Amino acid sequence: MKKIVIAAIGAALMASCSGKPEVSSPDGHIAVKLNRAEDGALSYEVTVDGKQLIAPSALGFVAEGLVPAADAKESVATSSFDETWSQPWGENKEIRNNYREMAYTLTDSSLEYTVRVRAFDDGIAFRYEWKVAGVDTVVVMDELTEFAFAVPAQSWAIPANFDTYELEYNHVAVDSVVNANTPFTFETDGGVFGSIHEAALYDFPEMTLERIEGSTLKAVLAPMPDGVKARVPAEFATPWRSIQIGASAVDLINSGLILNLNEPSKIADTSWIKPQKYVGIWWGMHLGTMTWTMGPRHGATTENAIKYIDFAAANNLQGVLFEGWNEGWENWGGNQHFDYMKAYADFDIDSIAAYAASKGIELWAHNETGGNIPEYEAALDSTLAYYHSLGIHTLKTGYAGGYVGGQYHHSQYGVRHYQKVVETAAKYEIMVDAHEPIKETGIRRTWPNMMTREGARGMEWNAWSGGNSADYLCTLPFVRLLSGPMDYTPGIFDINYDRAKADPGRIEWNGRNDYCKINTTLARQIANWVIIYSPLQMAADLIENYEGHEAFQFFRDFDADCDWSRALQGEIGKYIAVVRRAGDRYFLGAGTNSEARTIEVSLDFLKPGVSYQAAIYADDPAGDATKVAIEKKTVISTDTLTVAMNAAGGQAITFIPAE
Ligand code: NOJ
Ligand code: CA
Repeated sequence: MKKIVIAAIGAALMASCSGKPEVSSPDGHIAVKLNRAEDGALSYEVTVDGKQLIAPSALGFVAEGLVPAADAKESVATSSFDETWSQPWGENKEIRNNYREMAYTLTDSSLEYTVRVRAFDDGIAFRYEWKVAGVDTVVVMDELTEFAFAVPAQSWAIPANFDTYELEYNHVAVDSVVNANTPFTFETDGGVFGSIHEAALYDFPEMTLERIEGSTLKAVLAPMPDGVKARVPAEFATPWRSIQIGASAVDLINSGLILNLNEPSKIADTSWIKPQKYVGIWWGMHLGTMTWTMGPRHGATTENAIKYIDFAAANNLQGVLFEGWNEGWENWGGNQHFDYMKAYADFDIDSIAAYAASKGIELWAHNETGGNIPEYEAALDSTLAYYHSLGIHTLKTGYAGGYVGGQYHHSQYGVRHYQKVVETAAKYEIMVDAHEPIKETGIRRTWPNMMTREGARGMEWNAWSGGNSADYLCTLPFVRLLSGPMDYTPGIFDINYDRAKADPGRIEWNGRNDYCKINTTLARQIANWVIIYSPLQMAADLIENYEGHEAFQFFRDFDADCDWSRALQGEIGKYIAVVRRAGDRYFLGAGTNSEARTIEVSLDFLKPGVSYQAAIYADDPAGDATKVAIEKKTVISTDTLTVAMNAAGGQAITFIPAE
C-alpha cells in the first residue's frame, strides 16, 4: 500500500490568481474554486480544462446556528493524498485514491464551519463539517447546495421520489429537468461526461435535485413528517456531494470516486464475507405460479428447498434464497406483520439448514418488512442472532410498502434504519442484500457486508408490468450502477414465460396476462450477469429452465468474485461492453438497446502470451430471441472480436486459459 500525505495549513495557500481559494486535481484538469461574497454567502465553481462546467453555485444550509458571523475568521488547509487500497470484493480489488484537498474553514465564537473539497482526476466532491458550541442538536430545515450548469447538457436520471427508485429514466436537457434523483448523469455539448451523486450517506436524508431556474439544480432533502430534514449532533460531517467527471461515458463506470470518498472498512475480519452465485424460490411468485403464503402452491417448502440446494451444489453455485419461508405473508399489504423467526409448517428450517451445510451451500434468510420498521427493529437483534445460530451468512431484506407514521424510505429515519440493519448484520457475520433500499453511496467500503441492493427497476418489473425496455437496460450502467452493485436478479432463460403460461392455475398479476415476455434475447440475459455487477449474483429463473440447457454453462463457469473490471465501450442508453477478470478467467458482457448493433472489441485486456478458449454466447443469426448461438474458439490478446447483437440483444463470452 502506497500512501503519501502532504499537508499545509495557512491562509489561502492555494489561492488562485483571483485570490479565491482553489484546489485542482492531481493531473491539473479539474479545479474547484470557492467564493465568499460580501454578504457572507458561500459558493463554488468547477472548471474542466479551464472551462467552466459548474458556474458559481450556492453552498450551505438553512439551520439555526449554521451561519458563520460576518467577521468569522477564514482559514484554508490543503493536502494531497495518494494511496492504493484493496477491498475484500468489488469490481476492482485494488483502487487508487489520489486527490488534492482543500478545507476552507470559517470560525466565529460559536461555530467552526468547514467546506472540505477534494479534486480527483475523475471528479470532485465536497462536504460540510461543523462544530456548534452550546447546543446538542442542529436542526436542518433545508440544503442550499446548487449545481448551476455553465454549459448546455443532456441528462439521464430517474425523477425525485422519497419512497422509491423503481422508476424509468428521463433523458432530457438539463434546462428541462423538473426534478431528479442521483446519480444524475450528464453529457455537455462540449463532450464532458459527468454524474452528480452523494457518497457516505449516514444519519442524513438522501439528496435529490430540483431545477430552480435555467440550468440550475438545487439539493432537496427527503423530509421527516414534521418537515425537518435532519436532526444531527452539534459536531457533524455531511455526506459528500460528488460530481464524477470523464471524457467518455465509460470513464464514469471505470471511476472509483464514490468508494474513495468512503472510509476504510470497520470490519476487521472479513473472511466470512464472500461473493456468491445463487438461485432461489423467487421468480415463481412473480410469475404467479407459486405463492409466498402457505397453501397448495407454496414455493418455500422443504421439498423445493432440497431440490434448489441440490441444484446449487451440482452447478457450482454457492447460495440459495427462499422467499415466503416465514409466517406473516398473509399480512403483506395489510397490517404488515411478519414473524422473522417462525418458519411456515411446511418449511423445516433446521433440517434445511443442516442439509445446506452438508452440501457446502449458503442458506439465505429473507425478511420482507412491508415497511413496518418499528416491528422489524424490535425483532432485529434476536432475529439475526438466530440466523447466525443456523449458520446463515446472507440476508435479503425488503421494504415493499409505505413506512408507518408518515416516514419516507429515503429520509434520515430511513437512512438510520438501513444502517442499523447493516451494523447489526455485521455483528452476526451476515451479508446484506437490500431491496427497496436507500441508494448506494459507497458505504460497502466501510461496511463490506453491505453487498448489493436493488434500488432501481429490476427483473420483477418484467413479470407484472409493461417491463423494462432495452433502452432502460442500456441506461442503467451509466446511472444507477455508478453508485454501486445492483441485485437486478438477471438471467431468465424462459423469456416468453412458456412454462408459466402452460400452467392453468397461474395467478395473473393485476388481472392481466399481457405482460408475458421479456424485451430481450437469451444471449442478453446471459450478458447481464457480467454487465450488471453484483457480488451476490442470481440466476433468477426457475431451475427447471436451466436444467439441461447448454447455455447455463456460462453461469457455471462465471465467478461472482471478480478481481478487476473495465467498461470497454458504450454510449448512454445505446450500448455497453464490460469485461471482468476473476483469477485467470475473463468474462465479457455486451448489450444493445432496441437497435441491432455490431461492435469491434479488442482483446488487449487478456494476458499477453496466453492462449484462451473463448466460449461465445451470441444472438441467433436468424433472429430467434429464445435461441443462443454458442461458438468456441482459441484467442490471444492481439485478436479483435466482432460482436454482433440483435435488437434488445447482446453477447457474453468466457475466456478460460487453454490447457
Ligand atoms: C420486492 C423485491 O424487489 C422482490 O425481490 C421480492 O420478491 C418482493 N418484494 C417480496 O419481498
Ligand atoms: Ca423491488
